[in-house]
Formats: sequence, C-alpha cells, structure tokens
Amino acid sequence: MKSVAKKTIFSIKPYIPGKPISEVKRELGLKEVIKLASNENPYPPSPKVLKAITQAAKEVNRYPDGDCFYLRSALAKRLKVNPRQLIFSNGSDELIVMAVRAFVDNGDEVIIAKPSFLIYEIASKIEGANIKNIPLKDFSYDLDSMKKAVTKKTKIIFLGNPDNPSGTYLKDQDVAKFLRGLRKDILVFFDEAYYEYVDEKDYVDSLGLLKNYKNVIVTRTFSKMYGLAGLRIGYGIANLELVDILNRIREPFNVNSIAQVAALACLNENAYYKDIAKKVKDQREFLYKSFDRLGLEFKKSYTNFILINVKSDSTLVSQKLLKKGVIVRDMSSWGVKNFIRVSIGTQKENKKFIKVLGEIL
Ligand SMILES: Cc1ncc(COP(=O)(O)O)c(C=O)c1O
Repeated sequence: MKSVAKKTIFSIKPYIPGKPISEVKRELGLKEVIKLASNENPYPPSPKVLKAITQAAKEVNRYPDGDCFYLRSALAKRLKVNPRQLIFSNGSDELIVMAVRAFVDNGDEVIIAKPSFLIYEIASKIEGANIKNIPLKDFSYDLDSMKKAVTKKTKIIFLGNPDNPSGTYLKDQDVAKFLRGLRKDILVFFDEAYYEYVDEKDYVDSLGLLKNYKNVIVTRTFSKMYGLAGLRIGYGIANLELVDILNRIREPFNVNSIAQVAALACLNENAYYKDIAKKVKDQREFLYKSFDRLGLEFKKSYTNFILINVKSDSTLVSQKLLKKGVIVRDMSSWGVKNFIRVSIGTQKENKKFIKVLGEIL
C-alpha cells in the first residue's frame, strides 16, 4: 500500500502523545502513577458538570446537534460575538487540521515557529506544504523573522499564544506591528489553547483583532482549563467568511453530544475554574522555587506547564521518572535537547515529582 499512499505523509513522524496512566501501570507494574505530560487539568470537572455529563449519557443513542446550538448561543453571549462567528471542533486540534486542509495546496508554504506545537507541522505536511520553521529567540517568537519569511506562496502563519512547549506569550504591540503590512490573504492562526491561564495585561486582544482582520482565526479549547480533554471539544472564532470556508469541510457531527453539554455546563462554573486557576498559579510558584533549589533552569511560563533544562540527557531523566511512576514529556523528540516539559499537577503530584526528580538528579 505504501506505493499508493499520499507521498506527503512519509515525511511525517507520527505524533507521540504523553503515555496514559493505565499503560504505565500495566507495563511497569506500578500501583501509583502520576501524569504530568499532556498539560491536562489535574482536577476533575465540577460536580455540576459531572451531573450534566451523566444526564447527557442517557441520550447517546441519538446523533449530536451538529450546530451545537445551546453551546453556541451561550458562548457567543460570553464572548460578545455573533454566534455564527463560532465554529466548534473535536478538540482545537481539529481546527488546525481543517484550516490547513481548506487553505493549503501541495507546494504552498506554512510558517511555524520552532519548537512549537507539533500538530501545525503534521497537518501541514499532510497537505504537502513546505514548512518554513523560524527558530524561537530565547524561547519567544521571532515575529520579525517570521514576517521576513513570507513569500508569494505563504498561506498560513501559526502563532501559538501562549505556545507549547515554550509557555511564552505574544504581546499586543508586537502582534500589532507584525500584522501591519502583512498580506491580507495569509491566514493568521492564533492558537489560544492556554488562553484561560494568561493574566498579563499586554496579552493580545485577539478577538479585538477580528474587527480589522478578516484573515485571523482564534482557537481555544475546553481541554486545558476546563478539564474536558477526554471529551474533545474546542472552538474557533473568526469572521463569517472564514467560518463559512471551514464549515464546508467540517464533518457534520464532529462534536459529540456529551462534550457539548459538558462545555455548556462549564460556562456556568466560573468560581470553580477560578479556584483551579489560582491553584495552578500557586503550584507554578512552588515548582519554580523547587527548580531553583535543585539548581535547574526553567522558562517562566504563562500556562499550566513548564519547560525545564535538566542539563543532561532528557530521555534518560524522563525514563527514570517514568520508572518511579511520574510521566513527564521528554522534549528531545521536539528538537529541544536536555529539556523536559512538566504539566502542573495537584500539590501532592508536584511534591512527588520534585522529590523523585531530586533523587534522580
Ligand atoms: C498549543 C496547543 N494547541 C492546541 C492543543 C490541542 O488541544 P485540544 O485538541 O485538546 O483542544 C494543544 C494540546 O496540547 C496545545 O498544546
């Protein structure tokens, strides 16, 4: 079959996700395993969200509402946008794939920072794009170089804000400068998967940008802050014309019914998620202090994960952590040697991680 498969896909290295807890327990015969590898929220959904999920489970014999009517109405109200400016997806990942599928032909160019979220590159390669990787400067986007890399063939520029694995964010003034004079027929993709974790005053007001830029899409997710990673639901906000383009290739029932109900319930649980945001922030400080104590360098993060320089073979460090029941992400396969990425867990999980890391190092 290899000879007849699309040629473009053989340049892709399959995405390796963080190992599930059950797999590590099974393989290593461990009773207690903590996962700090996929930037999930370590807390379960609120009791009210769980109740909504249980209720919705009773109707899974029916197809979901392909239009996500109730969620669309509630979210549009919260974001103060036209409900038709929203497009829902099976995790925000799906919007990355859809955008590339809709805009990129074989031989077109896509501009992506390096290192950055791997799905941008995978999705682009599937469509036969030439990738222009622009190295980060001290783990932040080099927007000037990204702009200079634009050619007649450029179709999409991906801006992870904050990005994974760096955890750094883009400032409004820098983005304003970047967009000024940029061709209006290049899709500028703001991936805001970690939006809810950012408090900075100079964080880009991406929804404000939509008023002037028809070529901008902003994507967010219920996976990271809202703790619905297992249900797979994300959304995009863009101009009507852009949403119409993406809707043409969207699968009719791409968002399952339980995810829709759960996401809607999350929107009424502000206090619960505010508390989680505070816990994550406090734990981030705890981890920073612990890294200082261990003499480890790290990148200040605006997300629920931290990139750490272990100053030695990160594959080995990750494997040793795994054997002790702590799953983190080795960054060497992302091209970031000697670094691991750790998601911020509960206090108990973080303490265990630091204890084991200290022993290993
Ligand atoms: C930067 C970034 N974008 C998008 C996603 C995708 O999230 P989801 O598909 O769960 O919405 C992730 C997940 O790790 C991410 O780190």
